[in-house]
Amino acid sequence: MFGNKKKNASAIDPEQKELIENARRRIKQKRLLFTHFVVFLIGSLGLIIIANRPNVADIPRILDIQWWIWVIFLWLLLLAYHAFNVFITNRLLGPEWEKRQYDLLVQKQKDRIAQLEKKVQKEFVAPKTKLVLDQPESQRKITMIAAAGANNELGKDGDLVWHLPDDFRRFKELTTGHHIIMGRKTFESFPKPLPNRTHIILTKDTHYKTKAGIVVHDLETALATAAGDDQPFIIGGGEIYKQFLPMADVIELTRVHGSFESDTFFPNIDESKWKLVNSLHHPADDKHKHSFDYETWVRK
Ligand SMILES: NC(=O)c1ccc[n+]([C@@H]2O[C@H](COP(=O)([O-])OP(=O)(O)OC[C@H]3O[C@@H](n4cnc5c(N)ncnc54)[C@H](OP(=O)(O)O)[C@@H]3O)[C@@H](O)[C@H]2O)c1
Repeated sequence: MFGNKKKNASAIDPEQKELIENARRRIKQKRLLFTHFVVFLIGSLGLIIIANRPNVADIPRILDIQWWIWVIFLWLLLLAYHAFNVFITNRLLGPEWEKRQYDLLVQKQKDRIAQLEKKVQKEFVAPKTKLVLDQPESQRKITMIAAAGANNELGKDGDLVWHLPDDFRRFKELTTGHHIIMGRKTFESFPKPLPNRTHIILTKDTHYKTKAGIVVHDLETALATAAGDDQPFIIGGGEIYKQFLPMADVIELTRVHGSFESDTFFPNIDESKWKLVNSLHHPADDKHKHSFDYETWVRK
């Protein structure tokens, strides 16, 4: 039972505790004032009795008023001052008042800080940041690069169906220093990795491993991996071109003049969405069995 009482006392919250302490202080002050008043009454009565005893020697007078009246008057003033302290000073300007003033000041400071914070937020709009994409997307040109026959043929049995050294050279010039994103099959069609390019290989196989590049398992991760690149290249093959076409900004297409046996195809370029902005003809010669055009398409 007692244990419970103790527990309850310690459960009083600090605000309640403060109120109780304040009440105690006020009671003590008032009790003191009352005692002072009683002592004053008794003291004054005693003074009056002593002063008015018949055999008391001649009592000195100040300003023609008897000394005991002065004493009572001064004491009364002291009592009044005491009462003033208890009822006015302590009540209005006591510790509670001090605390209220302090709280007000703190609140004022907090309001001022909040105002300043709002102002700073308004004036300085923080740049939009993305964890992975440090290249603003608007400046990025996702570029598909391919060589396709007249019927969009890309290759057969995991290989190309033509040999065009100048097209290879152009491919190298355009892609060097950039990220090249490709399907697993295209990656495996290379005799060795292409130098000075970061290979990003797409596969659904989560156990797929290669030291030649970065293996990813979806298109978004592939693009995010190339985030620092202002022109990542999608280099094929057919499956990959098809899926990236809606996201691409530019198509660098080598249109090879001729029809070829093929099992992989480039997707159709919808001319209502794409505009041909450049076309450069390359004639057939002793190194190039077929003529071709370098075409640059941009999204409308
Ligand atoms: N003419 C050209 O310019 C050119 C350029 C490149 C390639 N090619 C030719 O194209 C042929 C290869 O093309 P392809 O269409 O057969 O294969 P591909 O596009 O190179 O690769 C297909 C593979 O990529 C992975 N893949 C596809 N979509 C994916 C996705 N959304 N998420 C994760 N992984 C994904 C899958 O790998 P997993 O099976 O491992 O899951 C899929 O089997 C070859 O003949 C090559 O010579 C031609």
